[in-house]
Amino acid sequence: MELFDVYSLFDIVPVKAEGCYIWDDKGNKYLDLYGGHAVISIGHSHPHYVDRISSQLKKIGFYSNSVVNPQQKELADKLGELSGMDDYALFLCNSGAEANENAFKLASFHTGRSKIVAFEKAFHGRTSASVAATDNKKIVAPVNSFHQVEFLPFNNVEAVERTLSKKDVAAVIIEGIQGVGGVNIPEEDFLISLQKLCRKYGTLLILDEIQSGYGRSGKFFAFQYSGIDPDIVTMAKGMGNGFPIGGVLISPEIKAEKGMLGTTFGGNYLACAAGLAVLEVMKEEDLISKAKETGEYLLKNIEANISHKELRGRGLMIGIEFEEKISSIRFQLLKEKCIFTGISGTNTLRLLPPLTLSIEQSDSFTGSLDVLKNSS
Ligand SMILES: Cc1ncc(COP(=O)(O)O)c(C=O)c1O
Repeated sequence: MELFDVYSLFDIVPVKAEGCYIWDDKGNKYLDLYGGHAVISIGHSHPHYVDRISSQLKKIGFYSNSVVNPQQKELADKLGELSGMDDYALFLCNSGAEANENAFKLASFHTGRSKIVAFEKAFHGRTSASVAATDNKKIVAPVNSFHQVEFLPFNNVEAVERTLSKKDVAAVIIEGIQGVGGVNIPEEDFLISLQKLCRKYGTLLILDEIQSGYGRSGKFFAFQYSGIDPDIVTMAKGMGNGFPIGGVLISPEIKAEKGMLGTTFGGNYLACAAGLAVLEVMKEEDLISKAKETGEYLLKNIEANISHKELRGRGLMIGIEFEEKISSIRFQLLKEKCIFTGISGTNTLRLLPPLTLSIEQSDSFTGSLDVLKNSS
C-alpha cells in the first residue's frame, strides 16, 4: 500500500535523538532548532520522560474516560501551579486542532452564538472549525466553509469593535504569537483592548497557545506578557514533548455539564505520564527562564551579526525575515551544516528549538548562518 502523499519531505531518516540533537541512518548528527515543529520542549529522549512513560506502560497503558484516572488531576494541579492559572479547569484531548474545536464549542454553548472572529495570517489547525478559522483558503474545503468566520486585521482595535458590537460573535480566537503566519507578536495593548471589547459585547476570548505556550516565549503562555485573563486557552505541541496530547483551560465562569465534551483517547495514562514528565522537568530545570535567557541572547546575536529585513520573537520562538527567499539557505543549513530550522512563508526562517538549547548551540547556528549568508 502507498502512503497518501501529502507531505513535502526532506531526504533524511532520523533514527535516534537526544537533547537538542538528532542522528540519521547514515550517522549524521543534526542540531534541532525546529523541535519537530515546536513540539520538543524538554529535549529529545529526556531520561525522566522515558522512565515515566515506560514505567506507566508496565502498569496500565489505557482505559477510557469512564473511570477515575488520578493522574489527570495531578496533571491539572501541576499545570495550574506552573502556569499560575490554577483557578481554570482543564479538559484533556489529543491535538491542537481538537483543543480549538472544543474551545469553539464551549464558546458557542456558553453564548448561544455561532460566529467566530479570527485574524489575518492566523493558523488554528486543519479540522472543521479550526481550519475555517485559519487564514489560508488553499486548505479550507467546501465542507469546512459553512462555519461563519470573519477575519480581521491584526492589532486593529477599531475593526474588532465594529464587528463585536453587532453582538453575534461567540468567540474571538488569537494566537499568543502567530507561528505559521511568521512569528507575529500581538501588541500588549491590543490584547488588553481585545479582552475589554469581548467582555463588553458578550464574546469569549480564546488564546491559542498551541505553538507559543508551554514556556516557549519565556513565560508559561505568551499572552501572560500582557496580563490578560482569557476565557479559554488551548495548548498541545510542547505539552507532551512528542506524545500526542492537547488541552483546553477553561475559566470558572464557563460551567461544565455532563456529556458536553468528550474523547476516547484524551487524557489516557500514557499521555498523562508524558504531560507530567514535561511539567516536572520544566520545573526542575527551570526551563521557562532558560528559554527567556537563551532567546534574548540569540535575538541579540542575530540582530548584531546577520543582515535581515526584520527580526521578531520572544524566548525561543524566533522569526528572521530576509529580503530574499530562504528555502535554499534553509536547505544548506540542513545539508551542509546539519542544522534543522523551520520556515514561515517564503522569506522567514523560524526557530522553535527545545527549551534546553544552550548558548553554545545557539552560537553554532548564528555562526553557520553567517558563513552561509556571506558565501551566497
Ligand atoms: C497556533 C496553532 N494552532 C493549532 C495548530 C494545530 O495543532 P495540531 O497540528 O496538533 O492539530 C497548530 C499547529 O501547527 C498551531 O501552530
